[in-house]
Amino acid sequence: MAKGRRFLIAGNWKMNGLKKDGCALAKSVAKSLKKAKGKKQPFDRLVCPPYTLLSRVADAIKGSGVKLGAQDCHVAEKGAHTGDISPHMLKDVGCKFVIVGHSERRTDHREVDAKAKAKAEAVIEAGMIAIVCIGETLAQREAGRFISVNQRQLKGSLPAAATAKNTVVAYEPVWAIGTGLTASPEQAQEVHAVIRAELVKSLGEEEGNGIRILYGGSMNPKNAKELLAQPDIDGGLIGGAALNADDFRAVAAGCK
Ligand code: PGA
Repeated sequence: MAKGRRFLIAGNWKMNGLKKDGCALAKSVAKSLKKAKGKKQPFDRLVCPPYTLLSRVADAIKGSGVKLGAQDCHVAEKGAHTGDISPHMLKDVGCKFVIVGHSERRTDHREVDAKAKAKAEAVIEAGMIAIVCIGETLAQREAGRFISVNQRQLKGSLPAAATAKNTVVAYEPVWAIGTGLTASPEQAQEVHAVIRAELVKSLGEEEGNGIRILYGGSMNPKNAKELLAQPDIDGGLIGGAALNADDFRAVAAGCK
């Protein structure tokens, strides 16, 4: 990670957690990652539980310095959208971040770049930070198209008013998500450097170099340190390993 950027360790709980275990997990995360009194936090911490747990988790992490995020949202502020949740509702319940364009949304709900972009813009409009996910499939990687795929997705999904303050990008190679396969630090850095160059090209030096780029895809206590040591990897979007407070803390410990 370069000077001027701060690590962000984000847990994406996906569709996991009932009241009891979700609250217990939030409390353990809050306890193990609590900011030491008087000490500067070495990294930002975030948990993104399912909608049903947001309120409870907000209470469980209060005062710990761990922030709350959501996994998706609708683009509208309110209205006739049965089953959807608006950015304003998420803000109201205490969210500071919202993940948009995750590959599981793209696959399960046929979300395209334009949709991810519109959602990111709605998140920013509501005063929160958008975590915009991009990443190639295995077929695209094997066909040698992974650079152009990520460039295209970034271009299509990046919110118009993106700044270092309101936007985070997450590179999540689809083939590494939940599979136990991880991009090597070199493979990840290669794509992160391309994303960085694109950000600088479209937003200028200051914002482009300021935006945090997270790696996601089977990040765990074993591989986190090496991944986080890469110059353009500014944190992680962590799925499986975020469901265990010890593993999540161990991943965070890789921020140096
Ligand atoms: P994983 O998920 O860590 O379980 O691979 C990451 C993600 O999809 O955000």
